[in-house]
Amino acid sequence: MTTPGPEQPDPERQSGGTGTATAAAPSGPLAGGVHEPTRADIGEKTLRKDRYWVTPAITVIVLVAWLTYGVVRVFMQDYYYVDEHHYLTPFYSPCTSTGCVEEAAHFGRFTPNHALIPFAVLSLPLLLVFRLTCYYYRKAYYRSFWLSPPACAVPDGHKRYTGETRFPLILQNLHRYTFYLAAAIVLINTWDMILAFGGDEGFGIGLGNLILIFNVVMLWLYTLSCHSCRHVTGGRLRHFSRHPLRYRWWTFVSKLNTRHMLYAWMSLGTLALVDFYIMGVAAGWFDDLRFL
Ligand code: FES
Repeated sequence: MTTPGPEQPDPERQSGGTGTATAAAPSGPLAGGVHEPTRADIGEKTLRKDRYWVTPAITVIVLVAWLTYGVVRVFMQDYYYVDEHHYLTPFYSPCTSTGCVEEAAHFGRFTPNHALIPFAVLSLPLLLVFRLTCYYYRKAYYRSFWLSPPACAVPDGHKRYTGETRFPLILQNLHRYTFYLAAAIVLINTWDMILAFGGDEGFGIGLGNLILIFNVVMLWLYTLSCHSCRHVTGGRLRHFSRHPLRYRWWTFVSKLNTRHMLYAWMSLGTLALVDFYIMGVAAGWFDDLRFL
């Protein structure tokens, strides 16, 4: 038996091309997506002629590079604190391991010191889940890693589409809860940034401080522009007129939200930048540039 291809349109599938309600829903591997009988039977994989694959390819390269760097740094368990200027990298904050140097442990040392347990074991898994379940990152890695779909008007790389209604993708709903915890961790990062103004010789400002500030600003912008934050500020309200304060917050967050993708990438970049800078100063590769 031959399978009708684009050159030999399947009469049964074509009959649904008019969008009649009587078209039988497909089952099996062709269920859903562009293979629905109500969709035009186009032979080409896509009609797009531009290099739509460039963005997903760049996304894969950058995310893999960032994750590789992050894993190496987290398990290095060294060069995370600059004693002289009290710089603590966010990759090790809060530093709760009994292996942390005392000055870096702003919230105490109580988690086990083991080569396979990050010094910031309380925050890193949480932040990973927060970013993994982020609405923007979901779009980015669904498109780039899973080709689901790789771009607009390009068919899904998979024959079936089940959305996020089943395990494990239903766990993406955890995002709204991790938002609160991620916001608490940004508060901790902010506290680290403030403490970094008081070095061994008292108040001072160096390039490390400026990078720490830049990073914290980016982290706040990313966190406050979160879709869950937008819901927290303005969701479940029937009348904004009765909640003027929440309306203001919602308006503010909504404006930030339009740039959520930008903040997602910027904050990823500043995290790596601040960590690399602190590692360099702590390792003695270069000195911190002091202004005051
Ligand atoms: Fe991206 Fe919440 S949607 S952090």
